Amino acid sequence: MTSIDEKATAAATGASATERFRTDKTHTADTSPERVSLLAREVLEAVHETIRKHQVTYAEYDALKAWLIQVGADGEWPLFLDVFVEHVVEEVANAAREGSKGTIEGPFYAPGAPWLGSEGTLPMRDSEAGTPMTFHGQVRSVAGKPLSGATVDIWHCDDDGFYAQFAPGIPEWNLRGRFETDENGNFTIHTIQPAPYQIPTDGATGAIIRAANWHAWRPAHLHLKVSAPEHLLITTQLYFPGDPHNDDDIATAVKPELMLDPKKTEEGGGIDVEYDFVLDPA
Ligand code: DHB
Ligand code: FE
Repeated sequence: MTSIDEKATAAATGASATERFRTDKTHTADTSPERVSLLAREVLEAVHETIRKHQVTYAEYDALKAWLIQVGADGEWPLFLDVFVEHVVEEVANAAREGSKGTIEGPFYAPGAPWLGSEGTLPMRDSEAGTPMTFHGQVRSVAGKPLSGATVDIWHCDDDGFYAQFAPGIPEWNLRGRFETDENGNFTIHTIQPAPYQIPTDGATGAIIRAANWHAWRPAHLHLKVSAPEHLLITTQLYFPGDPHNDDDIATAVKPELMLDPKKTEEGGGIDVEYDFVLDPA
């Protein structure tokens, strides 16, 4: 992990995401040599075709090589791939589901967040900035049965757009927690509204975004993994209406079904949001 006095740089965030990816997952797929050959060949052919079509020069080829080397040096492959590629993998993986829509996981999930019952407050600093938010809902099966004992695993960034365990100086489980639905399938989460998030701009991913004159923003979002015994886990995100980047998310991960409908609360200047999850059978 990074130390408190390090700045929240792309290199630090990227290195944390890369380290996390390496330790938490087993990265093997039982893909046959024929399928590896097919996929590798078609990807390479798409590259060749792009070079021919646009008459790519040696200078541009060398710039690409230097950039690819830098993505690795900055540890930014998880960030880059999750922003620009994961949304299509998710689309393919979840195409046949009838229940709640999923979307990308992104690089900042941390397994093992504290259990907080069916109603609780996410761990946060005494001085945690941001609009207070209560997020509640029900988990059901596609047949409409409330699922008690379902897990709602939530993580989101703070009011500055930083994620605990990936940006330095934030307590380990800040704005991360797991909830277990009650006997009626309900959960209630007290937290703060996350801020829009700008993917780190000082590393290799930022360099290509700048070189292409794109922007680096994702709209404000909550990340969730919702699961229950004998049901398929869904990884998703929820968004807030009116965010300037709902229509041009750099990660292409917004779907209309994932839009919240926040209501202002009478006291405290906070918001209340309700969202139900529907899980497909396993
Ligand atoms: C990235 C960050 C996110 O918070 C997210 O939801 C998706 C992608 C990223 O920096 O790659
Ligand atoms: Fe995110």
